[in-house]
Amino acid sequence: MPYAHITGWGMFVPEPVLTNDDIAKMVDTNDEWIRDRTGIRQRHIARENEFPSTLAVEASIKALQVANLAPTELDLIICASSSPEYIFPATACLIQDQIGATKAGAFDLSAACSGFIYATNMAAQAIRSGSIKNALVIGTETLSRFVNWKDRNTCILFGDGAGAFVIQASERPGGILSAVMHSDGSGADSLTLLGGGARYPATEASVHEGKHFIQMDGKEVFRFATRVMGRATQESLELAGLTTNDVQWIVPHQANYRIIETAAKYLKMPLDKYIINVDRYGNTSTASIPIATVEALEKGQIKSGDKVVFVGFGAGLTWGAMTVEWTGPIPAKRHVYPKRYRLFARLRSLLLRAVRLIEGFLSRREL
Ligand code: UT7
Repeated sequence: MPYAHITGWGMFVPEPVLTNDDIAKMVDTNDEWIRDRTGIRQRHIARENEFPSTLAVEASIKALQVANLAPTELDLIICASSSPEYIFPATACLIQDQIGATKAGAFDLSAACSGFIYATNMAAQAIRSGSIKNALVIGTETLSRFVNWKDRNTCILFGDGAGAFVIQASERPGGILSAVMHSDGSGADSLTLLGGGARYPATEASVHEGKHFIQMDGKEVFRFATRVMGRATQESLELAGLTTNDVQWIVPHQANYRIIETAAKYLKMPLDKYIINVDRYGNTSTASIPIATVEALEKGQIKSGDKVVFVGFGAGLTWGAMTVEWTGPIPAKRHVYPKRYRLFARLRSLLLRAVRLIEGFLSRREL
């Protein structure tokens, strides 16, 4: 059975930064309250011409570069997002087209902030089954589009960004060792975005009632998160035959510093084993774990051979954890330049659209 390794990683955040002081100009809040209660100092906000797919493409190309893998070699793309570009088509298909992943299947996965762990686990299982060799997993968000900037309970929390992993088959032991995924739909009401789906399609009334904004019972989500984070970490470690003593790093979902602190206490682990960057990005939902991982790798914190646990929770309710033995890129002689495929992808996409147009025109004439 092949092993599934994380061989490439990339992140991208939009440039504009929104500080706590900026938010204090919009709602009745202040920098001190936000820092004390959440640990957040600032977040990045997408420009008008930036979308989940465009952020994801930047992160994905970087991940492919690290993995030294051409987009044309990808078999599967899974995009996890809490703020997908559309209900359909899948954001994953837009990414597939823009990076030129000519032979990849592509789909979106909806498990809110736990989505990246779920998606990585799905890709790892497909690899271990032998049915695919190379997968791209993405978490990407422009949650700022769904935030009610008049609601101080939620608007202080969220930020935009994307992170991506390349997952590849290898005979070398290690890589993704175990994962657990959980859900509890009885808690569905505590974190929602109701508008635009089949129950509340967009109408004047639905927009007027603010159904297209994130609604949250913060206290309820906080209690749930502190209950499940430590337990899920332990479960995943047990499945991998490891204990907390074997772990070098925990990369938690970056929602609130206090939630991370409580999880660390539960596991009796020092906080300096936790990768924390919620102060600079806020909660980027599915993107938070890969963004934190990429930063930790770039700082030289996570190294080859380290045991790393990813742990997350989110709307649904969903939660999960994954244990990884970090290995890194698979050594290769030839060098590929995934960036160059972007131009090829653009031309290919234009050509396919033109062919579709001509085919449509000709078939109308034949009728
Ligand atoms: O990916 C999952 C996404 N969601 C989460 O992870 C959210 C988890 N929950 C949380 O992070 C926290 O519950 C919050 C940060 C949302 C809120 O922190 P809290 O310590 O639970 O505050 P609270 O809701 O109990 O509010 C305490 C007080 C209230 O005032 P009173 O009733 O005590 O007078 C609020 O009205 O703080 C007030 N408050 C604020 N004050 C200033 C609530 N939001 C704000 C604010 N600025 N932004």
